[in-house]
Formats: sequence, C-alpha cells, structure tokens
Amino acid sequence: DWTMAAYRAEAIAKIRAQVGSGRVICGLSGGVDSAVAAVLIHEAIGDQLTCVFVDHGLLRLGEAERVVTLFRDSYNIPLVHVEAEELFLKELEGVTDPEVKRKTIGRLFIDVFEAEATKIGGADFLAQGTLYPDVIESVSFTGGPSVTIKSHHNVGGLPERMNMKLVEPLRELFKDEVRALGRELGLPEGFVGRHPFPGPGLAIRCPGEITREKLEILRQADAVYLEEIRRAGLYDAIWQAFAVLLPVRTVGVMGDYRTYDYVCALRAVTSVDGMTADFYPFDMAFLGRVATRIINEVRGINRVTYDVTSKPPGTIEWE
Ligand code: XMP
Repeated sequence: DWTMAAYRAEAIAKIRAQVGSGRVICGLSGGVDSAVAAVLIHEAIGDQLTCVFVDHGLLRLGEAERVVTLFRDSYNIPLVHVEAEELFLKELEGVTDPEVKRKTIGRLFIDVFEAEATKIGGADFLAQGTLYPDVIESVSFTGGPSVTIKSHHNVGGLPERMNMKLVEPLRELFKDEVRALGRELGLPEGFVGRHPFPGPGLAIRCPGEITREKLEILRQADAVYLEEIRRAGLYDAIWQAFAVLLPVRTVGVMGDYRTYDYVCALRAVTSVDGMTADFYPFDMAFLGRVATRIINEVRGINRVTYDVTSKPPGTIEWE
C-alpha cells in the first residue's frame, strides 16, 4: 500500500535516473512547494544541486530571512541568494495588466536562473516545485472551456534557447501530499504548515501599478492581519489568508483630520486543494479588531474591507 516513505524513495530514484551526473539548479520561492522539491532533490543528488533564492522584492515581511536561515542553518544546503528587487521593480514599472505582470515576473525569473546557471559553469536541469493543480489551472478551468485563467509563473516550459530540461518531482501531487512529503523529509512543522504563497508574490496582491511604497504598506497590513489570525488560533483552520492593497483611495477622519488613503481588502479562504474555495466566516468582532489595528498602525490605509467571494466565481488571488 501507498505511503509517503515509499513515494519519497520512488521520487528519489526517478530524480537520479533523470538527472544522471548532470547539474541541477533549483529556484526557491520561499514557499513550501519549492522547499520540499529542493530538499528532495538534494537528498537524491547532493551537491549536483544548486539552490537559488531570488528575492524579487515582492515577498512578505521577514520572508527572505526565514528561507535563507532554514536552508543554510537547518539543512546545510548551499544557497545562492540573489537580490533582484531593483531588476523586478524596474521592469514592472507602469505594468497594470495582471497577465503582463505574471509574464514579466516569469521571464525575469528565467533570466536570473540563466545568469546563475552560467556562473556555476552551466546547468543541465532547472528544478521547480510545480504541483498538479498548477498544471491544470494553467491549461484550463475544470469543466469549463479551455481558456487560461492565470499564467502560473512556474508552468509552461522554458524558452528553447535555454537548453535546460525541467525537473518537477511534485508534478503529480496535491498540496496536502506535498506537506506530508515535507514532514517525511523532516522539514519543521512551522514551515510545512504555512499557507501557500504565489510565485509572483505581492505583485498580484497589489492591483494596478506596483510601487515600493505600496508594497511596503501592503507588507505591514498583511503582517498585522496574520499576527491576529495566529493569535486567535485560526491559522491552521484557514487555507490561505492575506491582505490586498487596492489602487483606490477614500476619505476618512482620524482625530480632527481628514485622511485620504488606500483601501485594504482582507481575504481568507478554506480549501482542500486550491481549485475551489470558500471565504472564511470570521466573526465580526475579529474583523473589527484587525481593521482597527491596520488603520491605527499602518500609515497609508484608512479603510478595510473583507472579501466574501468564494471560488468559483472568484479566484483566491485577486489577479
Ligand atoms: P487562484 O488565485 O488561481 O489560486 O485561485 C489558486 C492557488 O494557487 C496560488 N497561485 C500561484 N502559485 N504561482 C504559484 O506558485 C503562481 O503564479 C500562482 N498564482 C496563484 C494561489 O496563491 C492559490 O493558493
């Protein structure tokens, strides 16, 4: 019968067979999927693997430090940390269309990996933590016509000129199975149980043009929201929760002053695999508390709303 231990052994054998004595470069996003893929591949081929963590400037508060620490200190897996905020934000300047954002970010990721591969004398394979639902959703929407809902930035193959083959050991797995595999590989529970975080990061939680200022506001609001969710003991009951910074400013009043600041939308959903989802039914007192804290503590936001859309018809992310 089927166990994660057996899956692990089989996946390792497959990776060895595919890679042979080749060199593999693996992109870490900070999320669970790419971390599990990296640890699995490292177990299979050791130092034939080079992990690259690209900080695109679209990460949450404290995220980069957490990933670097986990890999360097807990796992002793060498990690190349690329500071690419400048590059990504420059290319995203003036971009407002969600698909253009996604494609721009995907293209830059490839550019960065290519440059890093060259630095280590070339790599034969690019490893990614692509899951089964990522594959499906980039192709078509369940039961509907065959149209692209969103271009997941890590799906769709590589430009031909790259001359690297893909290693995707999680391609047949759903999220809960990836978590089980992560536990099997000894990843800390606090890491394995983390909510999913999309490759394009905060870019797709900031509708409209992305600026450093907006990203900073969004990071602060998101951190307050998640702190309150953890404090209320709700983190593990929720599939994913995050803040979205709307490109809309509204009038408010703070003390004796008029304010004219951004609106923040809060999102939280329950789901089994991310393919469908229900909005999370927080009690109003909780939402009120979060709103008060965000408005008091985060400069630049003076109004908070809660998204009560399920998927379908909404998607989990706003873009
Ligand atoms: P949507 O918004 O399509 O999201 O309902 C479903 C799940 O996928 C995550 N997501 C992504 N993950 N690269 C990723 O690695 C992406 O481009 C991407 N877009 C969405 C999303 O956070 C949710 O968990």
